[in-house]
Amino acid sequence: MSGNKTFTMIKPDAVAEGHTGAILKMIEEAGFRVVAMKKTQLTPERAGQFYAVHKERPFYNDLCDYMSSGAIVPMILEKENAVTDFRTLIGATNPANADEGTIRKLFAKSIEANAIHGSDSDENASIEGSFFFASTEQY
Ligand code: CMP
Repeated sequence: MSGNKTFTMIKPDAVAEGHTGAILKMIEEAGFRVVAMKKTQLTPERAGQFYAVHKERPFYNDLCDYMSSGAIVPMILEKENAVTDFRTLIGATNPANADEGTIRKLFAKSIEANAIHGSDSDENASIEGSFFFASTEQY
């Protein structure tokens, strides 16, 4: 069983198309509590830092351009088994493979513009949350 926090961000395609509210509703109805949330925009350099783990991948430069192309909504979420349950809620990275009813099946446009991010481990949830938020202990 994983820990009780995860990190997510609603990506530029979904924010620009006005899906923030609908996605947030799905997140809360699935039992996640929003611990921290803001609307912001990454520079290409900051996007590159966030996705440094993918530096050698052929899609890295496009990914950094895309992730800095518009506003995003990063959040820290809380729920038992948060990392695993959230990845179930968002569905597969490639929306073509995402299950019916998942956030990516409903809102993602492509494997790159896939509407939402979800941390893949407790360790990365903590690292990624700290990338956007200084401290959430008071919430
Ligand atoms: P995410 O899981 O949030 O973090 C890595 C991102 O890289 C992923 O979402 C996609 O947006 C993007 N990505 C992953 N695989 C590919 C791919 N094969 N082609 C283009 N973009 C990708």
